Amino acid sequence: MHDVFQYAFWRYKLEVIVPRYYATVLPPLAFIILLAILLIAYKFKTDNMFNWFKERAIKKSLTLLNNNLKDVLHSDKNIMFNIKILSEKALASYGTAEGKAQLEKILSLSNNHMESIAKALNNIKDLKVSTIHNNLIDAIESAINEVNIPDYIEIIKIYHDTEVYGNFDMYHMKQALINLITNSLDAIYSKNVEKGIIRITVNSSIEWIYLSIRDNGCGIPRKYIKKIFNPYFSTKSKQNNWGIGLSYVFRVITAHYGHMRIKSKKDEYTNVEILLPRSKSFGGQYGED
Ligand SMILES: Nc1ncnc2c1ncn2[C@@H]1O[C@H](COP(=O)(O)OP(=O)(O)OP(=O)(O)O)[C@@H](O)[C@H]1O
Ligand SMILES: [Mg+2]
Repeated sequence: MHDVFQYAFWRYKLEVIVPRYYATVLPPLAFIILLAILLIAYKFKTDNMFNWFKERAIKKSLTLLNNNLKDVLHSDKNIMFNIKILSEKALASYGTAEGKAQLEKILSLSNNHMESIAKALNNIKDLKVSTIHNNLIDAIESAINEVNIPDYIEIIKIYHDTEVYGNFDMYHMKQALINLITNSLDAIYSKNVEKGIIRITVNSSIEWIYLSIRDNGCGIPRKYIKKIFNPYFSTKSKQNNWGIGLSYVFRVITAHYGHMRIKSKKDEYTNVEILLPRSKSFGGQYGED
């Protein structure tokens, strides 16, 4: 009798406990399983979406690269075509003064083209900056020295501060400045002014170095102003100008945590303004370190 009671009691207990157990355990369990399913589905979806975005971005940059390459190869083809025609002419008039003139043209075309290619390769390669404590004035002076400036163009230097030290890569900074000064020279040539002026102003605050390069050249039409930083955008002859100067300068400035903007008015002026972080460690200039 006792055993029967025990058995019956346990059956009773089980009947009470099991439904209660299911009632308390099953819903959270179901909820967890549902959550897991949702998470897996979400992850799958976001991964796919991420891939989709990535693919689109890659496709876009490949199309851009493709178009740029097409432009470059097209200009290459034109140059090679010119060289071919000139060579045929030189061959036909071999040994004469005319033939010599054709050969000289071929030489100058090849030189110009090689220069453009070297410049492009230099800019395309990964921009690795090695920052060292440098004075921006040194970079400006050495950039000016590397550019041929005709007599009718004057460079006016307004250095409010001559010890403007920053942590920057001298090579790239100098190349960036050469690009900017060359752009100013080109703008002045194309405007045919009597007197060209490039005004270089340097100023500084505790944290920043301010640089402005302003010319009285042809200026930039409004419709172009948004495009000038795009690689391969150029309004100049494609032969020697590939439109990579400003995009390179922008990369150099931003790689140094600087900022850059360009203001311009067609037929009047162009002003390139640059802000670079000033280095505080210079000789205890600020009494900080
Ligand atoms: N100082 C300036 N005055 C007038 N236009 C300018 C000036 N600087 C840049 N630009 C315009 O911006 C365009 C892009 O300049 P960027 O330096 O990138 O290329 P580029 O000078 O045409 O060719 P590259 O620098 O490769 O020789 C120029 O073609 C020109 O139209
Ligand atoms: Mg340029």
